[in-house]
Amino acid sequence: EKGGWSSFMAKEVSEEPEAVANTIRGRVHEGRVVIPELDGLDDLFADISRIVILGAGTAAYAGLVGKYAIEQWARIPVEVELAHEFRYRDPLVGPDTLVISISQSGETMDTLMAVKEAARLGARTLSICNTQGATIPRESDAIVYTHAGPEVAVASTKAFVAQITALYLFALHVARVRGTMGADDQAAQIEELSALPDKIRWVLDNEQERIEQLAHWMADTRSVLFLGRHVGYPIALEGALKLKELSYIHAEGFAAGELKHGPIALIEPGQPVFVVVPSPRGAQVLHSKVVSNIEEIRARGARVIAIAEAGDAAVLPSADEVLRIPLAAPLFEPILAVVPLHVFAMGLAEAKGLDVDQPRNLAKSVTVE
Ligand code: BG6
Repeated sequence: EKGGWSSFMAKEVSEEPEAVANTIRGRVHEGRVVIPELDGLDDLFADISRIVILGAGTAAYAGLVGKYAIEQWARIPVEVELAHEFRYRDPLVGPDTLVISISQSGETMDTLMAVKEAARLGARTLSICNTQGATIPRESDAIVYTHAGPEVAVASTKAFVAQITALYLFALHVARVRGTMGADDQAAQIEELSALPDKIRWVLDNEQERIEQLAHWMADTRSVLFLGRHVGYPIALEGALKLKELSYIHAEGFAAGELKHGPIALIEPGQPVFVVVPSPRGAQVLHSKVVSNIEEIRARGARVIAIAEAGDAAVLPSADEVLRIPLAAPLFEPILAVVPLHVFAMGLAEAKGLDVDQPRNLAKSVTVE
């Protein structure tokens, strides 16, 4: 089943382009996103006044990315919460709330119990799930499947990019229903989305070997930090989670703006820090602030590995390594920036001789609360 791959994870990372392409397929018609599974729910989408996204682990980080697109395009306020935190705090949700759960397996007990609690409180529920007929979609009012294909490795990779894709499709579908987005804008976003599979493939074709080499050199590292801002922030969290899960190395993700409020105290000579750099073609202020962060940590001896778009020269003077991603509109960068981080975590675990498919103490789907 692994084919010629060294692990299921190696196979699944190589399938990230198809995971995105297959999740988009059949959901774009004449320059508009129309998700057939959401047919008949227009009234619901017109009526809701807020969205709460729930998940655990990687799925929750996909939710954090999705918040930006839903708020920007569909103009509905979105909160993202860990399912297990939501469940036990007497949450304020009701009929005006759409609760979106995200789960690759569709069986995570923490997420399932949170969905049931939301339904009990009168919220409408929508499941984003990769497994046909799983429990969480069966318990939900509506389902948008991700089509990443079966994911065997315990730590989630291709499902993550498919989850963000599904959330973006959902945002575009709802924006069309609510009339919050012009037809030209909708068409432009669809074009960006549809271009992602080739761009992910570009990252794998052009950077994978170099990242694996870097991971090999870093096999004895004891701690790695990840910084990101805006949509790059959840990607920093995901990069850190994947490294913890696969290589058992201490890793933390931070919002780059928080650096001066605490994490900068951790910087000492030789400390590796991955920095997800926003495009200079997006909000210029975000780009220059993150470049300043790189300069600040570099001045304190950090070893900076920047993930930056092709042609961004501002990172060159202070970064020790620059991993390139193709140009994309800012909201679409996370789906590209996460690819080098998945490759890195996997490469480092392999360099340490660890089982990347079955990390110690973890299970693919945790069916206890
Ligand atoms: C954890 C897995 O147990 O569950 C993670 O180790 C995963 O990789 C998380 O992200 C959530 O799983 P699911 O199936 O609900 O997306």
